[in-house]
Amino acid sequence: MKNRILSGMRPTGPLHLGHLFGALTNWVSLQDTHDSFFMIADWHAMMSEYEDPSRLSRFTIECAADWLACGIDPEKSTVFVQSHVKEHLELYMVFSNFVPLGWLERCPTYKEQLREVTTRELHTYAFLGYPVLQAADILIYRADTVPVGKDQVPHIELTNDIAGKFSSLYGKAIFPSVKPLLTKNPKLLGVDGRKMSKSYDNFIALGDPEEVIKKKCSAMFTDPERIKLTDKGHPEKCNIYAYYNLLKKDYAPEVYEYCIKAKVGCTECKKNLGGIVTDYLSDIRHKRAALLKDESGIRAILEKGAAKAAKVASETMAEVKKTIGLI
Ligand code: TRP
Ligand code: SF4
Repeated sequence: MKNRILSGMRPTGPLHLGHLFGALTNWVSLQDTHDSFFMIADWHAMMSEYEDPSRLSRFTIECAADWLACGIDPEKSTVFVQSHVKEHLELYMVFSNFVPLGWLERCPTYKEQLREVTTRELHTYAFLGYPVLQAADILIYRADTVPVGKDQVPHIELTNDIAGKFSSLYGKAIFPSVKPLLTKNPKLLGVDGRKMSKSYDNFIALGDPEEVIKKKCSAMFTDPERIKLTDKGHPEKCNIYAYYNLLKKDYAPEVYEYCIKAKVGCTECKKNLGGIVTDYLSDIRHKRAALLKDESGIRAILEKGAAKAAKVASETMAEVKKTIGLI
């Protein structure tokens, strides 16, 4: 029997290259070897977007289009929206009863978000419980493997702690132990050299039009020590070179050469990169545009996915209720 994976993304903005290399390429290959569940985590998105949730439905549809365009195949994987499967919240409630506040207050992601996010009020009841819902997402499908970024590892550890506490309280272990599966790809930085993120507005979106991509590439930060054309560059310190390495590996040695010998200037190097990124994304961009022309098609895929997911989730929930003694 195949191992089961579950992973998710919050539909809070456009998907970008960071999602592609950090998660999606990995997910696409995992679909062949694993029983795969991919979830658009709209309840989790609500925890930060509760003041204006009206944009979530658009981001949800676009997120699904991006996934499909990148090669997530609804015939192989179960693709669905979190809020369409009611059992996530039911299991979240069961866990909420016994998860100690200390576990959540100590969680590094929680402390970090409270510190860093200044545009939203996150001192809320639900936001503290973010990892409890995530544990429910995973355990409701009894997934044993969760492909995530390094920042999410504390949530996987909490998931195991929660499953452990469930077993010790109710005398039966009905959940598997869960392992994070980290992507091997190096992190792709944003156009300003910081982590690529929606909140920094430094991303190249999968759906960005060609001119936008080219403009973003030409404005990228390069090796700060290479000021004049005659200055020799340090490709290993340059974000542009990192992009070449990831998007067009064959060509990277040539870039390295001309950079350290100051044969080509950064402006030209970035211009070339603009072409490479637009080419790289061209197939995805066309597929997502075609998919978005027929929103009802996307909705139908998500509905089918939710039905498949609900079948598994309701079985787990029935066993949970039996185990804890609810009628
Ligand atoms: N917390 C994840 C993130 O921000 C999204 C997510 C929600 C998730 N539920 C999940 C990831 C379950 C993996 C498994 O990236
Ligand atoms: Fe970076 Fe290219 Fe300039 Fe070298 S030539 S510093 S790789 S942008």
